[in-house]
Amino acid sequence: MEKVDTDAGFESFSEPWSPRLAAELNGQAMKLARLDGEFVWHSHPEADELFWVMEGGPLDVEFREAPTETLAPGELLVVPAGVEHRPVAHDEAKVALFEPAGTENTGDSGADDERSNAVRELATGVSRADAPGE
Ligand code: NI
Repeated sequence: MEKVDTDAGFESFSEPWSPRLAAELNGQAMKLARLDGEFVWHSHPEADELFWVMEGGPLDVEFREAPTETLAPGELLVVPAGVEHRPVAHDEAKVALFEPAGTENTGDSGADDERSNAVRELATGVSRADAPGE
C-alpha cells in the first residue's frame, strides 16, 4: 500500500487537461487533473464519469440537452455514460476524476491532440491495493 498526497500530486505537474493516475481500485481509476479553459465536447459510451472539484474553478459541466452544472470546490457530479458533455473551467480547477480504468478523457470526440494521450501515473506515486508491506 502507498498513500497519496494530493496536494503534492497537483504540485508535480502543471499541464491542464492532462489527468494523472492517483489510485486504482476495483477496476476504477482515480485521477487528478488541472482543468483550465474549454475542453472538447465528448461522451464516454461505456463509462459514467465523476468530477469532484477540490480547489479553484468554478467548473462548468455543459450538456447539449440539460442545463449547465456549475461546481465549486467541494462539489461533485456524476455524468452518465453516453451523455455528451463539455467541461469549462473559467479559472483553473484542481479536479479529481473517478471512472473505469482505461477511460480516455476525450471519449468519443475523435480529438487527436496531446490531451487524448493515455493517462500518465502521478509522479509522486499511485495508491493500489497491494498487500501491506509491498
Ligand atoms: Ni468526459
